[in-house]
Amino acid sequence: MVQNRVGPPVRGSDLFGREAFIDLVWEKLDSTHILLAAPRRFGKTSVMYRLIDEPRGGFKVVHADLEHLRHPSELITELTAQLAKDDLFSKALSGLSYLPKAGWAAFRKTVEEVEIHKFKVKLKEQVRPHWRESGEELFERIQGSGKRLLFILDELPMMIDAMARTDDGRAEAIAMLRWFRALRVSPKCENVRFAIAGSIGIGHVLNQLGEVASINDIEQLRLDPFPRKVAADLIDRLAKSNKTEISAASRRRMLDLIGTHVPYFIQVLFSEVVKANKIDHKKITPKRVEQIYRDKVLGIDCKTYFDHYYGRLRSYYEPDEARVVKRTLRQLAMSDSLQRSFCYQIYRDGLREKASADGFSHLMANLENDFYISFDSAAESYSFACKILRDWWLRHYGFEAAD
Ligand SMILES: Nc1ncnc2c1ncn2[C@@H]1O[C@H](COP(=O)(O)OP(=O)(O)O)[C@@H](O)[C@H]1O
Ligand SMILES: [Mg+2]
Repeated sequence: MVQNRVGPPVRGSDLFGREAFIDLVWEKLDSTHILLAAPRRFGKTSVMYRLIDEPRGGFKVVHADLEHLRHPSELITELTAQLAKDDLFSKALSGLSYLPKAGWAAFRKTVEEVEIHKFKVKLKEQVRPHWRESGEELFERIQGSGKRLLFILDELPMMIDAMARTDDGRAEAIAMLRWFRALRVSPKCENVRFAIAGSIGIGHVLNQLGEVASINDIEQLRLDPFPRKVAADLIDRLAKSNKTEISAASRRRMLDLIGTHVPYFIQVLFSEVVKANKIDHKKITPKRVEQIYRDKVLGIDCKTYFDHYYGRLRSYYEPDEARVVKRTLRQLAMSDSLQRSFCYQIYRDGLREKASADGFSHLMANLENDFYISFDSAAESYSFACKILRDWWLRHYGFEAAD
């Protein structure tokens, strides 16, 4: 049974089609750290949960979500708190110098959100003045336990990106990246591996911080959308679990509309098709599927998903660069693909005396890295990285007056 799930990470039998990728992840983790890069909703966290649920290679796996953390001390606090929940490691942690005396034993056992939060606040206060030393101490303890540990750092790039937006945060982000790099190559980390997942390209952020070398010991793996065959199988399995009839023609239309077979969009479209069918009992036909795609998937329902792509442009780029990017993306949405030379022309027209060949390459590489566009090197052309994003762009930003 594969249940139709829209939004939260999928686990157990609901995780579809990622077996080969998970094998590859474990193979790499035997000898190195990994960075799993893919846009939001490609299924990174779901893959990470499978590592937790079915560990291999004698690893104990601990997951920490870093999306909302903003200071290195919060990172150390989070790692300590997550480890404390583990019976094997909590013993090794009990004598750590920075643990608040009161509440430690109770914290290990509680599942109360409020209690957990209170303890973390106290812990963070202790860690903050000397987070480096606290971190070192933590990893010495881990090494001392003699056990293999895999730390999943979900959305670390997001944390660094947010930190890099203020002056203080910038300096702290650089300090944290350097400290983390030194830690990884030290003997303290012999038995530790890190699996980092990121929904935004970390390259852009590191570039701006001048710290591209700080992750050069980490192997990057891309989590791709599903191949068409796997996507078709997923639709069949969902239909079977839901006892819903989807004809080969309707399925084909679903796959064509989604274009880039991101598992989340398969689940969204499937869910909308089933919902419509439950309400009016009309037959599911390719035509209806198309209508549901236009009205629901590209409509208001998916607004929060796509809005951040547009919003990010304003916070990442200088105003005149952002204008060039928007113009380029609009042109790309209106045509299947654009020659690199044509994009360069848009760039030069927009930036005039500020334009440079290097600046252009850099800008396009960033857009690629952040999953907006892809480059076809044989044809020397760019296109949208994902069909749905293109359809969305065209629908919502395609007809703005050229600015
Ligand atoms: N392997 C998969 N099989 C089925 N559905 C998936 C799979 N991976 C992702 N999904 C769909 O995508 C949604 C988001 O998955 P998640 O793992 O949270 O993505 P990410 O961490 O990349 O944002 C899930 O709710 C589900 O609808
Ligand atoms: Mg995630």
